[in-house]
Amino acid sequence: MQPLSHTHMNGFPTHFFGLALVLLVSLASPTSSCTEQEKSSLLQLLAGLSCDHGLTASWRSDTDCCTWEGITCSPSRMVTDVSLASRGLEGSISPFLGNLTGLLRLNLSCNSLSGGLPLELVSSSSIIVLDVSFNRLTGGLHEIPSSTPAQPLQVLNISSNLFTGRFPSTTWELMKNLVVLNASTNSFTGNIPITPCVSAPYFSVLELSFNQFSGNIPHGLSNCSMLKLLSAGYNNLSGTLPDELFSVTSLEHLSLPRNWLEGDLNGISKLINLITLDLGANKLSSNIPDSIGDLKRLEELHLDHNNISGELPSTLSRCTNLITIDLKNNNFSGELTKVNFSSLSNLRKLDLLYNRFNGTIPESLYSCNRLTALRLSCNNFHGQLSERIGSLKSLSFLSLVNSSLTNITRTLQILGSSRNLTTLLIGYNFKHEAMPENDQIDGFENLQLLAIDGCSLSGKIPQWLSKLTNLGVLFLNNNRLSGSIPDWISSLNFLFYLDITNNSLTGEIPSALMDIAMLKSEKTTPNIFELPVYSKSPSFQYLMPSAFPKVLNLGFNNFAGMIPEKIGQLKAVTSLNLSSNRLSGEIPGPICNLTNLQVLDLSCNRLTGKIPAALNNLHFLSRFNISNNDLEGPIPTVGQLSTFPNSSYDGNPKLCGPMRANHCGSTEADKVSTVCTKGIATEVIFAIAFGAFFIVGVLYDQIVLSRYFG
Ligand SMILES: *[C@@H]1O[C@H](CO)[C@@H](O)[C@H](O)[C@H]1NC(C)=O
Ligand SMILES: *[C@@H]1O[C@H](CO)[C@@H](O)[C@H](O)[C@H]1NC(C)=O
Ligand SMILES: *[C@@H]1O[C@H](CO)[C@@H](O)[C@H](O)[C@H]1NC(C)=O
Ligand SMILES: *[C@@H]1O[C@H](CO)[C@@H](O)[C@H](O)[C@H]1NC(C)=O
Ligand SMILES: *[C@@H]1O[C@H](CO)[C@@H](O)[C@H](O)[C@H]1NC(C)=O
Ligand SMILES: *[C@@H]1O[C@H](CO)[C@@H](O)[C@H](O)[C@H]1NC(C)=O
Ligand SMILES: *[C@@H]1O[C@H](CO)[C@@H](O)[C@H](O)[C@H]1NC(C)=O
Ligand SMILES: *[C@@H]1O[C@H](CO)[C@@H](O)[C@H](O)[C@H]1NC(C)=O
Ligand SMILES: *[C@@H]1O[C@H](CO)[C@@H](O)[C@H](O)[C@H]1NC(C)=O
Ligand SMILES: *[C@@H]1O[C@H](CO)[C@@H](O)[C@H](O)[C@H]1NC(C)=O
Ligand SMILES: *[C@@H]1O[C@H](CO)[C@@H](O)[C@H](O)[C@H]1NC(C)=O
Ligand SMILES: *[C@@H]1O[C@H](CO)[C@@H](O)[C@H](O)[C@H]1NC(C)=O
Repeated sequence: MQPLSHTHMNGFPTHFFGLALVLLVSLASPTSSCTEQEKSSLLQLLAGLSCDHGLTASWRSDTDCCTWEGITCSPSRMVTDVSLASRGLEGSISPFLGNLTGLLRLNLSCNSLSGGLPLELVSSSSIIVLDVSFNRLTGGLHEIPSSTPAQPLQVLNISSNLFTGRFPSTTWELMKNLVVLNASTNSFTGNIPITPCVSAPYFSVLELSFNQFSGNIPHGLSNCSMLKLLSAGYNNLSGTLPDELFSVTSLEHLSLPRNWLEGDLNGISKLINLITLDLGANKLSSNIPDSIGDLKRLEELHLDHNNISGELPSTLSRCTNLITIDLKNNNFSGELTKVNFSSLSNLRKLDLLYNRFNGTIPESLYSCNRLTALRLSCNNFHGQLSERIGSLKSLSFLSLVNSSLTNITRTLQILGSSRNLTTLLIGYNFKHEAMPENDQIDGFENLQLLAIDGCSLSGKIPQWLSKLTNLGVLFLNNNRLSGSIPDWISSLNFLFYLDITNNSLTGEIPSALMDIAMLKSEKTTPNIFELPVYSKSPSFQYLMPSAFPKVLNLGFNNFAGMIPEKIGQLKAVTSLNLSSNRLSGEIPGPICNLTNLQVLDLSCNRLTGKIPAALNNLHFLSRFNISNNDLEGPIPTVGQLSTFPNSSYDGNPKLCGPMRANHCGSTEADKVSTVCTKGIATEVIFAIAFGAFFIVGVLYDQIVLSRYFG
């Protein structure tokens, strides 16, 4: 039976009655179902799937295909929608779908489909919306024969697949109705396509980020008179920002981060509709022009990792919709106080890390009461922290590393009232002051990360830290703290990263340290930083506290006594560094139970006895150092331990092995001298202080640095 078609209705007096009758007839008549041809096209799709997750149960050939799961039909029983997103489908996409002549929308996103995208679908004369994003489709997009009639396709989403090759050129000339092209997260090469702008009058979204497009931003952009979004970040684009780009005044979102683009921003104010401007990690130079104040709609301003210099224009205060200002890693200078921040009442994130701003921190900043993240680290600011910072009630992330701050007691007293603070990085300030004592500090109950490193602070590990019950990550390295590790340390139930390297701590390694809950179990905390925290070595970007490895760094102190047997409880630890202390006794056997260890450094102590053979159980170990102790016996010649270089074992005259002067069984002593005098050690750690342990809520991405400043 043929389905009722609209032509049957033409004779009826009014449209309303016609429609009512169609509904009545189609409900009443058992014969009105989809055609055999449409059914068979859909069954071809099914046949091409190697895994359909139960679709077969619904798609039965003896039933009307309009009733099948994921299928919608028109009143005239033509298939209009195939919606099978997130169905766990595997296999290929059948070209027979192109035979569904009434198909308007095809959504196969978020499956595991492979193979190519059939040309029949891209060139379909009915499909308006085609979404095959988040699959494993391969191959290239093919040129559509130029004889094909103009296509109705409006939305094409092929993002997050494995497509390769250059974009076809003539194809877009035929797509006169295209509005959205989303090809992000593939491996496309060649120039970015601008042709849709010329051929499709309503073309408004071009999303091409995370590909391998290269070359300049092509000519023809001035034809993109409806373009609202241009996104091509994380590609290999080069050349200068063309003037033509600044003529696309319809643009609301311009996002081209992580390319090699040069030039200046002098034309930017013509883009008066801009809401998002992201040109981070390029090679832009010159200044931000005063005319930036004309961008009244601007909400997101990302110009980080460029070479932009000069002052921040005071006109920025006219961009009253700003939510995020990210200018980190540039060459800005001058006094920030020239900008009146009090008009930026929507501001949530301000990141000025690594610039040369000077003067004081502007008071007007403290009226931005929606501010959640503030990073001013590594500029040339001077002066004291204002008490008014306490009025930033939403502040959750604060990083003021290396900002010439003095009086740590006062600073912590001011900040203690910021109840929402979760991340506080204030290292490399307060040079040679004393760590405040217990009764002086209050608050910080929500703090998850605290970094007071590199301050040369004297005093003890303060007891007020025991009240920070949410603390997960604690940096106190590179100070002059003395005394022992307090027993209350085990009451910090969320602590999983403790770095107290390079202090003057004494006593034994307390067994309380072995009772820290998070170091014993694989559990993590699910929180997220407001801004990414970076460390140089390993060169990582941490978006959330739990992404930090579980670390216990006690090196370069004066700890003495034996390594406790209970160390075997710290099963979750990935990095254990006890080097350069005065530890004696044997390497405890239970250390071999720490099977998550990637780094184990016991060097420069006074350890004796044999190397436990079971250390070979530590399969993830990639850095291992037991040099400069007084160990004896053979160096393992098999397993994980045999893969480490001689230097991991040097300075143990009684160790023997085939690669050493001291062959096992002979009596000749190893001649390597000891290099663990405190003087040298301190020098070493000072080199490292600004390198390996400079974790400061700072963008210190090695790759980025060498790329832009190296
Ligand atoms: C359906 O599509 C396939 C593949 O595109 C084609 O070979 C076939 O001729 C079409 N069948 C009909 C009936 O149109
Ligand atoms: C396709 O379906 C997914 C999941 O329902 C949805 O998120 C997506 O927006 C749809 N695509 C289009 C173009 O509507
Ligand atoms: C694909 O892109 C379209 C248009 O940009 C969008 O509407 C759709 O939601 C996207 N699909 C998914 C699964 O995100
Ligand atoms: C492009 O598609 C991705 C899904 O792969 C989606 O997350 C994104 O929002 C889309 N972009 C635009 C601009 O529609
Ligand atoms: C594209 O813009 C150029 C000028 O920038 C103009 O000469 C040309 O006619 C435009 N093409 C179309 C198809 O509008
Ligand atoms: C990036 O582009 C440059 C020229 O602009 C080229 O030499 C280089 O091979 C490209 N790199 C990749 C990964 O495509
Ligand atoms: C940065 O720009 C200045 C001029 O403002 C220039 O002298 C310098 O060479 C540039 N640096 C880099 C790394 O491009
Ligand atoms: C920063 O700008 C100054 C001039 O203002 C220039 O001498 C210096 O080279 C620039 N720094 C970098 C890293 O480009
Ligand atoms: C800030 O630096 C500028 C030069 O960039 C200098 O003229 C000015 O005096 C400095 N201001 C202060 C307070 O140091
Ligand atoms: C403080 O943080 C809590 C939890 O994240 C949030 O609900 C609350 O709104 C924040 N307070 C302010 C003043 O932003
Ligand atoms: C530091 O600030 C406190 C007030 O919090 C004050 O009592 C103390 O005298 C200050 N110390 C110095 C050295 O200025
Ligand atoms: C490792 O732990 C198990 C129990 O978790 C224990 O029985 C065993 O003795 C430990 N091994 C060493 C070498 O301590």
